[in-house]
Amino acid sequence: MKNIETFFTMKVKQEKIVMLTAYDYSSAKLSELCDVDIILVGDSLGMVMQGEETTLHVTSEDIIRYGKSVRKGAPNTFIIADMPYMSYHLDIHSAQKNAADLILQTGANAVKLEGGSVSRIEAVKAIIDCEIPVVAHLGLTPQSINRFGEYSVQAKNKKEQENMIKQALALEEAGAFMLVLECIPEGLGKELTEALHIPTIGIGAGRYTDGQVMVWHDILGLSDMQPKFVKKYTDLKHPITDAIKEYVTEVKTDKFPAKANTYYPK
Ligand code: KIV
Repeated sequence: MKNIETFFTMKVKQEKIVMLTAYDYSSAKLSELCDVDIILVGDSLGMVMQGEETTLHVTSEDIIRYGKSVRKGAPNTFIIADMPYMSYHLDIHSAQKNAADLILQTGANAVKLEGGSVSRIEAVKAIIDCEIPVVAHLGLTPQSINRFGEYSVQAKNKKEQENMIKQALALEEAGAFMLVLECIPEGLGKELTEALHIPTIGIGAGRYTDGQVMVWHDILGLSDMQPKFVKKYTDLKHPITDAIKEYVTEVKTDKFPAKANTYYPK
């Protein structure tokens, strides 16, 4: 299994790191089969698996339930479990306990949390102190949606960009071993990637980050939304709905089951 050292080496050798979300056994199994470097059990599951409008309702129990299935499907892949909203905000002790629950109950290798404020940095340090590797996440952090008001590009002006660079350096200093950068200008993604020793993983952060992360449903054409930063590698929605429609028609017209699908005991 790849590990933190592998990802540092990949950065140094400029080998791109590929991260993909997965939420269940079957998608995790296919991701491992396709040599995805890292699987993220993202709290995006709130939107793509549970039909919520934001990620805010996702709980630790949700991440644990989905994460367990992901580990079963991908026993040899490095897995990151997302820490849900309010599972690391209240105090250091509950942040440590919630991070440990995710690791112990899912078999994930690391946790990810959003933000770069002083209290987030304290949470990062405290979780690492429990021997749990931490991935940081800056830019369009979806758990801050009520502060942002909408899902849009972040750090568009110089002041915000300088602030993000400061936060990224502080997160690296605190011990985060990787940084996800979401929906920021390409120039800032490049500057951060060059300034940091830890690998950067972009989603809508341009071409120069050390790796990319995408949501399973987005690359396969199963999402309702299509932000600019998503590339649909296939459009599974139509083949799937065609197959289901054909099944419905065949049952209604007595074409399925056919003799070939039927048991005849001797
Ligand atoms: O929850 C998630 O899937 C994420 C990625 C989009 C980075 O945080």
